[in-house]
Amino acid sequence: MKEAIRLEGVTAGYRRGNPVIHDIDLTVPENDFLAIIGPNGGGKTTLLKVILGLLAPWEGTVSVLGASPAKTRPAIGYVPQLIPGDTFPITVIDVVLMGRLRNAGLFRRFSQGDRKTAEMNLSRLNVENLAGNDMNSLSGGQKQRVLIARALAGKPQILLLDEPVASVDHDTQKSFFNLLAELNSDMTIVLVTHDVGAVSAHVKTIACINRTLMSHGETLSSESVAMAYGCPFELISHGGIPHRVLGNAKESES
Ligand SMILES: Nc1ncnc2c1ncn2[C@@H]1O[C@H](COP(=O)(O)OP(=O)(O)OP(=O)(O)O)[C@@H](O)[C@H]1O
Ligand SMILES: [Mg+2]
Repeated sequence: MKEAIRLEGVTAGYRRGNPVIHDIDLTVPENDFLAIIGPNGGGKTTLLKVILGLLAPWEGTVSVLGASPAKTRPAIGYVPQLIPGDTFPITVIDVVLMGRLRNAGLFRRFSQGDRKTAEMNLSRLNVENLAGNDMNSLSGGQKQRVLIARALAGKPQILLLDEPVASVDHDTQKSFFNLLAELNSDMTIVLVTHDVGAVSAHVKTIACINRTLMSHGETLSSESVAMAYGCPFELISHGGIPHRVLGNAKESES
């Protein structure tokens, strides 16, 4: 099976002598649907930055689709973690068109095809009615959907999503995971979340990180998650997918 992402012995951080992620070995095969879970500050976003080539590892190697991350970045659709606060004024359709920049090229105008792709992806996320609205006027959940539409507009081979369900309600979460399952038929998906309850049954493998990779596989042990989160943990499995953390019981889809 071909590899989408391979990390070997990766150590990285922001201040020398203070690594945020340490000695991570992680292989993601093509067409995997991997959920990376771990507590706040555990290094999940940092790991995604390394995969995107935005942060160079201090030690170890990273390859994406068999090449360096900088080379293959155009093949990755990235949905960044939403940071609360206003951005500069920009309409929703223009945000999604940014996902087509690679195709438009420097100083070239977007084609009718680019606009069609942008609109099609807004409809896919059920937010086509917001196309002319200012990004700043949207709710957190709506913004997140627009950012996913932007990532998909670039027709990526790999989709990286950082906390995509953080501000969406249960029904939206359900349809969102159905969409991801559909996309997963021809796309590798890596979804990052601190919320174990948000991991859906559509996920194929799970990795747990808190500075180091605590576990990786088709199932998770209660022990490794308890160790990562530093709290007692109970797993209720549906096909190997954990559904509940003690003290943070959440209804999840099955
Ligand atoms: N740009 C930065 N400069 C310095 N330190 C940073 C930077 N970004 C993150 N860190 C630190 O690195 C550590 C890991 O942060 P990271 O954002 O990777 O965690 P996370 O697992 O994504 O957390 P969360 O669940 O809250 O999103 C934290 O201690 C954080 O303060
Ligand atoms: Mg994060």
